[in-house]
Amino acid sequence: MRDLNTDTFAEQQQQRARTTCIFSFTGGIALLWIAPRYSDMVQCRILNRKSLYRIGKVFIRKTAFLQRSLLSASIVSTNLYVSSANRIIDHSSRRAAADMASPLRSLVEDDERYLKSFQLFLERSSEHQCMHDFIQGILPGELASVGDGKAELNVFGVGSGSGDIDLEMFSQLRQKHPSVTVDNQVIEPSSQQIHNYKVLLSKTPDLDYIKFTWNKNTAAEFEQHWKENKMSKKADFIHMIQMLYYVKDPDATVRFFQSLLDKNGKLLIILVSGRSGWGKLWRKYRRQLCNTEISQCVTTRDIKSGLESQGVAYRSYALPSHLDISECFVEGSEKGELLLDFLTEVLDFSRTAPAELKAGVLEMLRQPDCSVETDGKVIFNNSLEALVLDPLP
Ligand SMILES: *[C@@H]1O[C@H](CO)[C@@H](O)[C@H](O)[C@H]1NC(C)=O
Repeated sequence: MRDLNTDTFAEQQQQRARTTCIFSFTGGIALLWIAPRYSDMVQCRILNRKSLYRIGKVFIRKTAFLQRSLLSASIVSTNLYVSSANRIIDHSSRRAAADMASPLRSLVEDDERYLKSFQLFLERSSEHQCMHDFIQGILPGELASVGDGKAELNVFGVGSGSGDIDLEMFSQLRQKHPSVTVDNQVIEPSSQQIHNYKVLLSKTPDLDYIKFTWNKNTAAEFEQHWKENKMSKKADFIHMIQMLYYVKDPDATVRFFQSLLDKNGKLLIILVSGRSGWGKLWRKYRRQLCNTEISQCVTTRDIKSGLESQGVAYRSYALPSHLDISECFVEGSEKGELLLDFLTEVLDFSRTAPAELKAGVLEMLRQPDCSVETDGKVIFNNSLEALVLDPLP
């Protein structure tokens, strides 16, 4: 327990550039303080130790339970720490104890497993196919009018990832506007993804008409930078594909980027549909599964109702898509477990979720709300929806 003997230890979550919680150990006293708005956060990694992680979790839950109060406990060793934590649990109600007994960790804490499950999701789903169909079929009509005759178009890719979808869209843009040049701002927080994007560019011919600017930023950082520097550039096409889950305030993010649109500009948003299996699953299990520090479980239904409440017009297009989740129901199937992790965004869901939650989620996943069963397969409704916004009047 060397770490606990350090006089003071403070860890701030750096990955997301937000202060999430600070743990300080002073002598034999552990103080845990969590800002009220972060107290639902469950992925605090204290010193990367499983046992301590669990304690952190218990305390986090406990502070939420105690109306987010300051909590302190005496510690001498891990064991004592655990037992004092357990005592605290014993004093609370049964319901709270049941809540606290599930130290679910987010899948994104484990890059390798996340990528593996995401890859499997792509293999088992028609996710990319449905986007491809949309880009070929619908998007050209939307892109035809952007630019208002300008010789150079400004494009912002918000959360561009590895760029494959971006390049597909550029090829449609180019067909509609053969003589323009493009100034493309890539806004992407992951350096790995930016690297992948650059590798893709090096292998793709005929992109000389596009100038790439790399912003290794989250959308929020980009917005802050934009405002601080009083930037005034306007955009002809902004896209945010499968990314609004990862911002703190999706409605405000949409408003900000919409405000950057030039005359005839278009803002494209793609997210899972509120009526997809995802939407149904999240409505029922939001509290248990959605770690709001990491992802908002937001669907186009939420975005549309935000827009409607402000009287903002949009066009909407369905992107039907499915995901074969049959393996999730094969006991002990490794791939089934990976898919379940992806569906729940919980690391090792099968092994770490309380039995009741696991049974509930599995049952929900095969209900007609989420899936259809055909030919012995369970096909989850992975439908997406695209929203296209014009500039604010
Ligand atoms: C899947 O969800 C979409 C809406 O997002 C709906 O239109 C479609 O009918 C659903 N498909 C099935 C097979 O239930």
